[in-house]
Amino acid sequence: MSKPDYDNEKAILDAWEANAKPWISAVRSSAIGTRVRATDDAILGAIRALSPASVLDVGCGEGWLTRTLANEGMRVLGVDAVGSLVDAARTAGGGEYLCLTYDEISDGKLEIEVDAVVCNFSLFGGESVERLIATFPSLLRPAGALIIQTVHPETADGVLPHEAGWREGSWSGCGPGFSDPAPWFLRSKDDWIDVLTSQGFTRVEVTAPIDPASGAPASLLLTGRIR
Ligand SMILES: C[S@@+](CC[C@H](N)C(=O)[O-])C[C@H]1O[C@@H](n2cnc3c(N)ncnc32)[C@H](O)[C@@H]1O
Repeated sequence: MSKPDYDNEKAILDAWEANAKPWISAVRSSAIGTRVRATDDAILGAIRALSPASVLDVGCGEGWLTRTLANEGMRVLGVDAVGSLVDAARTAGGGEYLCLTYDEISDGKLEIEVDAVVCNFSLFGGESVERLIATFPSLLRPAGALIIQTVHPETADGVLPHEAGWREGSWSGCGPGFSDPAPWFLRSKDDWIDVLTSQGFTRVEVTAPIDPASGAPASLLLTGRIR
């Protein structure tokens, strides 16, 4: 894709603004099969295994994960750039919410210290994601962890090797009502590990939860620790 990074990063935010309504319905009606069969349990399991008292949910959307963790007694802050998603999350209750872009977080607008930073299918950008991840060590307590669940390159991109770069977006598998998908920046497993290690996460573990319906990986799940 020949557009400059800046245009693609903006297109990502525009697409979430435009598709907030169908997204809320898709999540709340369990319309996304891979979430129900595999990835919701995978992210919850990875977080619960660390028993964090406090969690930052980055790109929280309509708030299902923030809500679930808050209902389990964790102190959770969900942040997202899209006002209508944050409003829907607040209305549903559980946890605290702030409307912030990743660039604002990278610019130091979030002053918080937590045991875990979680990004569940919320990192689609190129350089903006690297800047954001570079900010996370300063938001984490020394023994804290970063947990990222993201699109698995094998299921998203049949072309081998998976060259890092922008790809055409799609709402396939999300259900009805969506329009104008944004491009997204594909990274291989090794690219993700490189991003995390270059930003101070010295220990990185990676798993690939399997979708029992297809036997294929449903996601890539990374846990990074600063020490
Ligand atoms: C696929 S949704 C995931 C939402 C939620 N984590 C979940 O598991 O349902 C991606 C979310 O990332 C948010 N997002 C994407 N880019 C962002 C940015 N640059 N700044 C803030 N939020 C962003 C979108 O608004 C959207 O709510």
